[in-house]
Amino acid sequence: MGNVYVFDHPLIQHKLTYIRDKHTGTKEFRELVDEVSTLMAYEITRDMPLTEVMIETPVQPAQCKVLSGKKLGLVPILRAGIGMVEGILRLIPTAKVGHIGLYRDPETLEPVQYYAKMPSDIGERELIVIDPMLATGGSASEAIRRIKEMGARNIKLMCLIAAPEGVERVQRDHDDVDIYVAAIDEKLDEKSYIVPGLGDAGDRLFGTK
Ligand code: PRP
Ligand code: URA
Repeated sequence: MGNVYVFDHPLIQHKLTYIRDKHTGTKEFRELVDEVSTLMAYEITRDMPLTEVMIETPVQPAQCKVLSGKKLGLVPILRAGIGMVEGILRLIPTAKVGHIGLYRDPETLEPVQYYAKMPSDIGERELIVIDPMLATGGSASEAIRRIKEMGARNIKLMCLIAAPEGVERVQRDHDDVDIYVAAIDEKLDEKSYIVPGLGDAGDRLFGTK
């Protein structure tokens, strides 16, 4: 079964509080999601492999470390996942970005795909699927299923807030995928919104209703 990691760094937790707050307006919400995404990217890359290289400092030759291993790819789930992309690219500017468009049908709660475009070398990349919200897990699970169909082998899932139900669903459907979140909340409500959550992530990011 995949592991679940909760990023309890104080800066992440502090900013998440203001992201949750209903008095936080669109501009500030967007900025905070961007900032938290950078901090989460810092945490999620903690286990990246390094290799030794020789360089010359102005003083003398020195054996130093650089990143090695697989190249990264980000896959935001449209539309709310877009709000996390720039913040991650700030730390990993060479990552390629695939997009998958899914919305949760409000009646059936089933994910409906409307767009997908991945980097051509998706199978050789370590992919981070990103979405602020992991509620029932239907969208994330379906996104992961689709990108596996397109050749992805090595996938992590990064979300701001998860419900226990969503974590269980992804673990059940994709036992090879580790999940990284800033918080696991209490439950889902009757409309499958995360409680206490932050409301509708897409609407809060883009100012729609
Ligand atoms: C939200 C959110 C996730 C999904 C989570 O997107 O960004 O993608 O719901 O719910 P689930 O875990 O129950 O599938 P939404 O469907 O509202 O679409 P949007 O991003 O276009 O607003
Ligand atoms: N999608 C959201 O944007 N928020 C939730 O709480 C659940 C699904």
